Parts: sequence; C-alpha cells; structure tokens
Amino acid sequence: MAPAKDPNTLSNHLEFSTTHTAISLTLSFSKSSLYGEVELTLKTLADDLKQVVLDTSFLDIKVVAVNGKGAKWTVGDRVEPYGSPLRVDLEKAVNSGDEVIVKVTWGTTEKCTALQWMTPEQTSNKRHPYMFSQCQAIHARSLYPCQDTPSIKSTFDFSIRSPLPVCASGLPTGVRHFVPATSPSEPGTLVYTFRQPIPIPSYLMAIASGDIANAAVGPRSLVYAGPEELLRCKRELEDDVETFIKTAESLIYAYEWTTYNVLILPPSFPYGGMENPCITFATPTIISGDKSNVDVIAHELSHSWSGNLVSNASWEHFWLNEGWTTYIERRIQGKVHGDKHFHFSAIIGWKAFKESVELFGADHEFTKLVIDLKGKDPDDAFSSIPYEKGFNFLYYLDRLIGREKWDTFIPHYFSSYRRKSLTSFDFKDTLLSFFSKDVEASSVLANVDWDTWFYKPGLPEKPDFDTTLADACYALAGSWQALNSSNSSFKPSPSDISGWTSGQIVVFLERITDFPTPLRKHLIELMRDEYGFLKSENAEILSRFLTVGLKAKDEKLYRKTAEVLGRWGRMKFVRPLYRLLNECDRKLALETFEKNKGFYHPICRGVVMKDLGIS
Ligand code: BES
Ligand code: ZN
Repeated sequence: MAPAKDPNTLSNHLEFSTTHTAISLTLSFSKSSLYGEVELTLKTLADDLKQVVLDTSFLDIKVVAVNGKGAKWTVGDRVEPYGSPLRVDLEKAVNSGDEVIVKVTWGTTEKCTALQWMTPEQTSNKRHPYMFSQCQAIHARSLYPCQDTPSIKSTFDFSIRSPLPVCASGLPTGVRHFVPATSPSEPGTLVYTFRQPIPIPSYLMAIASGDIANAAVGPRSLVYAGPEELLRCKRELEDDVETFIKTAESLIYAYEWTTYNVLILPPSFPYGGMENPCITFATPTIISGDKSNVDVIAHELSHSWSGNLVSNASWEHFWLNEGWTTYIERRIQGKVHGDKHFHFSAIIGWKAFKESVELFGADHEFTKLVIDLKGKDPDDAFSSIPYEKGFNFLYYLDRLIGREKWDTFIPHYFSSYRRKSLTSFDFKDTLLSFFSKDVEASSVLANVDWDTWFYKPGLPEKPDFDTTLADACYALAGSWQALNSSNSSFKPSPSDISGWTSGQIVVFLERITDFPTPLRKHLIELMRDEYGFLKSENAEILSRFLTVGLKAKDEKLYRKTAEVLGRWGRMKFVRPLYRLLNECDRKLALETFEKNKGFYHPICRGVVMKDLGIS
C-alpha cells in the first residue's frame, strides 16, 4: 500500500524525505528567541520535482540555499492550525533517488509555541534564565523549518550555543569555545554538540538550557536538574531506572539509545513526561519524596521502543505510540511489583478513559481508536483515550492469543518496524501474518472485529481486572459514603490509610468524587484533618482532594486551588482544576489565570484559554 498523506503537515513528505538534519543555533535569553541554520538532507521519492515544501509556524525565515546556492523561496499564507508552508524552488527538476540539501537561516519569534523562556525570577534559585522545548505533536515547526510529520525520520547533529549548560535529544559529543566572527558575543562562549545516530521524527527534537547539574542514577543513566534539587531527584530515581530498563529489555529487546537520562524541568513543564530520545523530560511533580510517581519514568522509558524506535505514521494512529507504551509500562509494573499492580494501574486508567469519553461525548470522533484529524489540531484530540483504548485493545489481544504466544509477537513487532513509522493497518497485517502458520492462534484472531476496535466510538467492554489493591480503597470510600448519607457510626482516623500507596489514595479520592451527592462540607474538613491531604506535597493527591472540595462547592478550598494553580503548570492537574474553579467562581478562575499566564508554557496557556472560553 502506498504511504498515506499525513493530514497534519503542509510539507510534501510523499515527494521528499529528510534523512539527516544538521542544526546549528544560538540561544538568546535576552531576546527570548533562538536563531541559526538548519541543513536538511532530503531524499527525492518521485520524478520531476521542482519544489520542496517545509512546515513553519511563526518563524522568521532569512535565507534559503539549495545545494550550496541561494534559492528562490516564499512563505505561504498561514493555515490554522498548521502554520505557513515554506516553498523552496529547485533550479533544476530532481528525480527519484536524487539528494537535495536545503539550508535555511532562520530565527524563532515571540509567537513560538514550542519554547518556554523563563526569567531568573521564574526559576527555583532565581539566579539564571531557563528555556525548554516541547515539540509533540506539531510544535517542532515553530522551532525550526522541517517536515513536521512522524512519518519522516532523520538522524540529527546539534550544535547549540548558550551561556548555560544545554541538554538535547542526542548523545553529547563535546563542548567547544565559540569563535566570534561578526556576531556579538552576548549569548555565551560555549557551543554544546550532540549527535542522534538513530533516525527520529521532528517531534522528538528537544533542547533545554539553564542552571542544570547532573548526577548518576544508574549505569547508563543520569538525572539532570537544578543544583538545589539534584540530590532529591537522584534519590527519587536511583533505585528504579535500571530495573525498569532491564525489565523492558526482557520483554522486547536491548535498549538501543546508549543512555537513558532524565531531565527534571521547572514546574511549568506542561506534561508529566516527554519521551525525548536519550533524555526524558519530566515534571518536578514526579519527585514526591516517596517514589510513588516513578511510573511516569517507566512510561517514558517504554517509549524508547514504542514511539521512538517504532513510531505512529501520523497522529491519527497515536494509539500505536501511547497504547503500546501504556501496555509496556504496566507489564513492567507487573514484573517488578507483581501482577496486582498491572491490574491496579489498568483500573486507574479505565476511570480516566471513562471520564474522557464522557467529556467528549460517547459518539465523538476522538473517542475512536483510529481518528480522523483532517483539518484538526492533534492537541485538541489529546486525552486518555488513545492510551487506554489502545491499552485495552492490546490487553484483549494478549488474553485472546494467550500470554505465552503473545509475548513472542512483542519483539517481532518491534523488530519489524524498528526505525520506521507505521499505521494501524500495518499493525493488523503484521499481527495476522505473524500468527498465520499457527492454526489455533489464527482461528482466534479470525474473531477479532477490527472495524469495531478501530472505528467504533465510546467504551469497549470492560475487562475483569483484579481488584485486590483497589478493594480497600472502595471499602473506605463506601464508609465515607455511608457517613455522607448520615446513617453511619464510622469514625475516620489516620490509620484508615496508613501504609497506602499514593495510587490507592488516588483511587479512594476518585471514588469520592463519583458520589451521586458531593461530600458534605464538614466531612471534607474531617477528611482534611484526619488524613492530612491538604498538606500533601504530592500533586496527584492534593489535586484530587481539591477536586472533591470543588465538586462540593466548598468555598474554603477556592483560594487554595488558586494558589496551587500558580505552583504547577502540568496540564493534567491544571486543566481540570481550572474547569472546576470556573464553575465555582469564574471571577477567581479568570483572575488566577491572568496572574499566572506568564508562568505557563504556551501550549498550556492556549488550552486553558480555550477551556475558560477566553480565546
Ligand atoms: N508523549 C506523551 C506526552 C505528550 C503527548 C505530549 C501528546 C504532547 C502530545 C508522554 O509520553 C505521556 O504520555 N506523558 C504522560 C505520562 C503518563 C501517562 C505516565 C503525562 O504527561 O501525563
Ligand atoms: Zn506517553
């Protein structure tokens, strides 16, 4: 089958394919922008082609050269939400197999959606500025001109000039002095270089620079963080990272990216984690002091296979990235902590899945596994659905075929598409052909209703998860429910939850949130006093407790919510809290957003504005 057009790129990716990207840039903290040169080596895929089209979004394009000679180019009108096509004319038509080198001199602008620039005052030690990127899904084009589609993969050379230490999604190859030619020396004298020898899509290009130190957390792993936070971060991660890597290797095959490092970002990082190759970017909210949030690391690490080596060919098949990753993450948890934990995590996931389906509406396009994104913004489709519907589909296949046989398919799948991108249809073909000679497996696979799994909106049938770890949480929530309907002698005390994991507290609080009548206010106070949730440093717990309070319209928690909304910028916490605060006290929600909008990453700022109806 001919490769399909990715609807979320304006580039002519079916005609040219980037094989190597050499990017050389300078960070200017004083201007909150970066500028430099990017050289794309393109392979021609068809005959008689006269133009290369690249994605750009709010970039300042200065010069374009083709094969070393100045070229004619134009930046087309902006098409929301995809940006402006950069059309580069070729002097002479090229044919299949020809190599074309396009070099662009460019800079970012203040409208760049991929970068957050922070002043020293916005950082924890307030001494130095900071910048970081977040390119997934389609923000790489606001950072540099490229074929911004996950169907195209290229090796990378980075060369980044900054006054402060730099991290990037490659292997460090050194640091050299900047030799000033004509440009001013303001941005610093060191140039940090990196190489990514494994071809990666544009969305995995990542950079960060700031007052960053590092420490070892495993034989092939470092954690990078601010010097004041470094040792706390090291303690949080050092026991688990290598265990996770080895466990994933036993399930799939050897880790290929040489290093698996983690950069702990400032609190405005909009996601829990981002699987940038060689160096996961992560929110500081995972550093809770009790290792209770390291599942995020198991998740991002799993992307080293699902997503980074084997990528979805377009965002319409995003479940291949996130569903597979969620599945592998839970298999790791199961192997490391016991099967009960696989199921417990799946139970938490199912709840998020159900809520996302309710939020979109059960017939909505974005509740399908394979979605139509023509003309749409992939950020608008983002939810738990690709994670959990994808996980449930794979877990269904796992049970259908049987764990032992299914586990032989996992390395086969990841070998077949290693360093490639694929669609859901490729996945189906590969699964069916792998088991074609196994009469028993093919006969059960013949029963799979592929169209229903791919295209039916809403929830599939709920599997029977093992509720061992969840039962205690449900029982305690039941006692509170009885108390809420005032027919109970239950006396809450701190011992109710002693020895609980933070995951169990989350399940308990989410159950409370689901009560048909909100928890009465004096009971919220009692819960606060007995269980200490309001003092929790763990964002997973504190945000859920505030949710219980806001659902009950407890005014006493509005101010606290507003305060917390200035503490983290992780969208998973910020978006639901804004939505609820908006229902309780719109004025306070708007004021809080106004006060903190400079603190949020542009992606977070954008979605919260949409959620609050102020865009
Ligand atoms: N790749 C995602 C984050 C992402 C998705 C960024 C889509 C931009 C667009 C990452 O792997 C992820 O899923 N993070 C989760 C962690 C969790 C599921 C353990 C998050 O941020 O909460
Ligand atoms: Zn993920």
